[in-house]
Amino acid sequence: VVATREMVVAAHPLAVDAGLNILERGGTVIDAMVAVQMVLNLVEPQSSGIGGGAFLLYHDAQTQSLISLDGREFAPQRVDETMFLNDDGKPRRWFDVVPGGLSVGVPGTLALMDHAHARFGRLEWYTLFEQAIALATNGFSVSPRLSKSLDGYGGKRLQQFTEASDYFFPHGRALQPGDLLKNPQFVETLKTIQRDRGASFYRGQIAGEIVASVRESILNAGLMDRADLAAYQTIERTPVCSQYRGHQICGMGPPSSGGVTVAQILGILEFFNLEMLGSDHPMTWHLFVEAGKLAFADRNLFLADPDFTEAPIDALLARDYLRNRAASIDLNSAMAVPAKAGTPVETVSLSPDTTDGLPGTSHVSIVDRDGNAVSLTTTIESGFGSGLFTSGFLLNNELTDFSFRPKQDGQLIANRLEPGKRPRSSMSPTLVFNSSGQLHMAVGSPGGSRIIPYVAKTLLGVLEWDMDVQEAINLPNIAKNFGTMDLEAGTSAEQLKADLEQLGHKVRVRPLTSGLQGIVITPAGLVGGADPRREGLVLGD
Ligand code: GLY
Repeated sequence: VVATREMVVAAHPLAVDAGLNILERGGTVIDAMVAVQMVLNLVEPQSSGIGGGAFLLYHDAQTQSLISLDGREFAPQRVDETMFLNDDGKPRRWFDVVPGGLSVGVPGTLALMDHAHARFGRLEWYTLFEQAIALATNGFSVSPRLSKSLDGYGGKRLQQFTEASDYFFPHGRALQPGDLLKNPQFVETLKTIQRDRGASFYRGQIAGEIVASVRESILNAGLMDRADLAAYQTIERTPVCSQYRGHQICGMGPPSSGGVTVAQILGILEFFNLEMLGSDHPMTWHLFVEAGKLAFADRNLFLADPDFTEAPIDALLARDYLRNRAASIDLNSAMAVPAKAGTPVETVSLSPDTTDGLPGTSHVSIVDRDGNAVSLTTTIESGFGSGLFTSGFLLNNELTDFSFRPKQDGQLIANRLEPGKRPRSSMSPTLVFNSSGQLHMAVGSPGGSRIIPYVAKTLLGVLEWDMDVQEAINLPNIAKNFGTMDLEAGTSAEQLKADLEQLGHKVRVRPLTSGLQGIVITPAGLVGGADPRREGLVLGD
């Protein structure tokens, strides 16, 4: 899809339509982002919403500045590092702690929307809610993906809680594709937010409902207080930018591991000639996966909430350091797993955290007629989050992105659970600038820790192999963060299996459902790509 002035890409056509409508009324990318997020909360409730957290990269064309906002959830003040441990000191099973109140972090998405709009919005706040309110009032058609998500573990989790069960399983039957779904409770919530910008959510009646839902959960009653919600702050962080083949790639710094890890993967790969190898050579994907193993080893050791543990980001991205890491890759043989973290700084007394999770996340890319851009990745952690449904929206289970163990082999884990701390994320909202500093690309994806290879692959497609962004998104997904090396089922990647096994990789073929949403600014206009693996759409003007 090509447009001349403005473009919105998101995971659901109704959300994209709401965003474009705001742009057409003269709104900025930030105005459009608020409208898109509110509709996504309604129509793709399994993935994101005001009960969760988000990271934003925003390019302001007029001031040529890049801002990153951290709207990540934080752990309530009453938690302690043993919260996810059994009485014998061993970690509880991930599936046992996700449902209910214990896993719920203090939500940040709404505060981020308010903060971004107060600084960079143009239209009146209340106008940004009209489309979501109309859809929640009159009903919308349940999508095949929402219905299918109710089949598995996510649906079972919801059925454990009366409020969620009543909404997603009316009269005991899962919502079906095409069902008309209304959400009167969410209408009330949206109207309240439309009036008070989140005062009730963080300090009033909605705050009371969130706290009651968490603390009175019939499973895993949680520890959140009203004071936790009242204390929520959006934080402006320094974006992480690095060079790749003459482009500047900018991403989200800690508490997300996305920016640093994508930059490390590309920084290691820059020492190889991937342009010559091309996108379908087994060696390309051997190198891609080996670079990923090295980058993930560093991520697991160093990256966590920077207000608790500062990571040596400059050292991790130093060219000489990455050259050494690249030199440790054997062209003829897969390295043993887990790979060892490097020593970018001399003294390190930490243990790695290898927490992985199941993703419930969404990505939004928007460019407006003034050349501003938004790259927003937004999440409630796993599909349907904690399963707690209150005031018409789902609460996240983001606290399971912390390491369940505080230490290993006598050494602390940087991403351990602590009061007031934000769990490490893999979300990788990305903006790319060309050698003259002009905005070139916005991209991001859901996918848990696989977000990182999904985004890195798409950047390679556009920057290394000159693909248009849709072609780059369509490239088969290949990822190896934990466990086996995964090749995307039903794609040409399956043909690489024998060669990769020959190199010593343990290979598995499986679905790898990214949700990449990208926009590239070209001389011919804005070119957009939406991931065909999900229900996303590109619309432009
Ligand atoms: N919960 C997904 C992430 O933050 O990476």
